[in-house]
Amino acid sequence: MNDALLDRLPPPLPADHIVALNQPRKDLHTERRYEWNGWTFDVPAGVFLPGATSRVIHQRLLDGRIDVRGRRYAAMGVGLGVEAVVAGRRGAKEIYAIDVHPLSVDTTTRHYERLVGHREGTTFVPVVADVFDGFPTGRRIDVITFNPPAVSQKVSEDPDIVRNVCVGATLVERFFTGIVEHDVLAPGGEVFLIASNTADLRTIVSDAVALRFRPQIRLRHDWRDGVLTYLFRFTREGGDA
Ligand SMILES: C[S@@+](CC[C@H](N)C(=O)[O-])C[C@H]1O[C@@H](n2cnc3c(N)ncnc32)[C@H](O)[C@@H]1O
Repeated sequence: MNDALLDRLPPPLPADHIVALNQPRKDLHTERRYEWNGWTFDVPAGVFLPGATSRVIHQRLLDGRIDVRGRRYAAMGVGLGVEAVVAGRRGAKEIYAIDVHPLSVDTTTRHYERLVGHREGTTFVPVVADVFDGFPTGRRIDVITFNPPAVSQKVSEDPDIVRNVCVGATLVERFFTGIVEHDVLAPGGEVFLIASNTADLRTIVSDAVALRFRPQIRLRHDWRDGVLTYLFRFTREGGDA
């Protein structure tokens, strides 16, 4: 069954096409603004500005297709913090806002305090960590989301652009390995990961399968420019679901 799913995934687009599609925005090192769902976020220099791929996850958190109510939730690579704000408003029990970039974690914390604030039954935990290296030990999570910088071609030498866009499939492999080694996923836990054929989808999914994760495709979106984006849901053998 996993082989059939792997066979359905497209190979990466040609390298020059990927580089052309992912020309870095010139304004990453400036202060920007982001508006979504009636909320306004300031976006400090270096922090990722959410795009249409980000909103696939944000919208599903908001409308409950990714259900975090009363559950322990980790937003891996949280960036600006929109996932954390939505999870707070939806009433997640615990929210781990994780990023390797301290300014992204600070920015998320600021937006969370402003747009959610104290809420009975919800705990917000900002975490600076390199995927799960630095994540508090002994915590179990019910839902994890990740919009990784998985583009397979190095589109820039700028370390902030690389961190946001194109670390590649090895980072996703470290993400899944971290879940297993730190025993992060609670029984019945779910991992939602979004990536496109600007990344090496088959490597990403087969690395997860080798660690006994079970993939499902929740969305395949054709952007009509050659890019096909997939939202995967992974569970782990031994868990429910
Ligand atoms: C594509 S952005 C996604 C940001 C946000 N989740 C969104 O969808 O708008 C990728 C994020 O992953 C973070 N990141 C990159 N490498 C990481 C690592 N090793 N551990 C944790 N986060 C990382 C980046 O700093 C960035 O905020």
